[in-house]
Amino acid sequence: MTEASSHWDQLHNHRRFRPQYPNDHVVRFFMASLGLFENRPARFLDIGAGAGRHCKLASDLGFDTYGVDTSFVGLQHARQRISETTSRPLLAQADMSALPFADSTFQLVLSYGVFYYGTAMEMRQAIAETHRVLIPGGRAFVVLRTLDDYRFGKGRKLEENTFQLDIADTNELGTVEHFLQAEDIDQCFAAFRKISFEKTETTSANRSRVNSDWLITVEK
Ligand SMILES: C[S@@+](CC[C@H](N)C(=O)[O-])C[C@H]1O[C@@H](n2cnc3c(N)ncnc32)[C@H](O)[C@@H]1O
Repeated sequence: MTEASSHWDQLHNHRRFRPQYPNDHVVRFFMASLGLFENRPARFLDIGAGAGRHCKLASDLGFDTYGVDTSFVGLQHARQRISETTSRPLLAQADMSALPFADSTFQLVLSYGVFYYGTAMEMRQAIAETHRVLIPGGRAFVVLRTLDDYRFGKGRKLEENTFQLDIADTNELGTVEHFLQAEDIDQCFAAFRKISFEKTETTSANRSRVNSDWLITVEK
């Protein structure tokens, strides 16, 4: 077990770090993609599936669903969550940088709030794996952090735009995080045929903190 996976195992032991409902933007991604797969069984992969909220949604929508996560504890909770779904998703412990799937396996891939945990190189490897496991014409939705996020710069700088966080106000103390500016996105996802991205921001702690994310949709 790595230091990072034991960090996530500890978090997944707390109910408040296991969101139950799917994220709005993920729901929109699914709704926009459903028409592509009508009358055809489609395979979906969630990279960094956590406690399984998006695997449950995909399974309820009829996708042949797979999820991977570095955290064994997260996957145990995901198994519980999806135990009532009719088609049981397949869950496996794996790192985003080495997915245990053959090339061109999935029509849809999601990674919500995962690839930024690590260095720039680790993020690029996870993006390369996403490209590898998608079928030609397949789509992915990836959520990453912008430089405007309040966590940016809060900790020891390891390389350009990568920090080991030293703030204790979230569940991320000690994690290594890489942040992207808009110009980086086309470069990071250059292997894909189509790239489009939006920015989303919400505040918390009476507006003193800005959570700032890129919502990136790509097609192989
Ligand atoms: C912020 S949570 C998001 C969970 C889930 N995507 C969701 O939206 O509910 C980040 C997840 O990424 C997983 N994770 C972190 N580093 C990872 C890695 N290198 N490979 C696979 N999963 C990783 C963690 O265990 C955790 O479940």
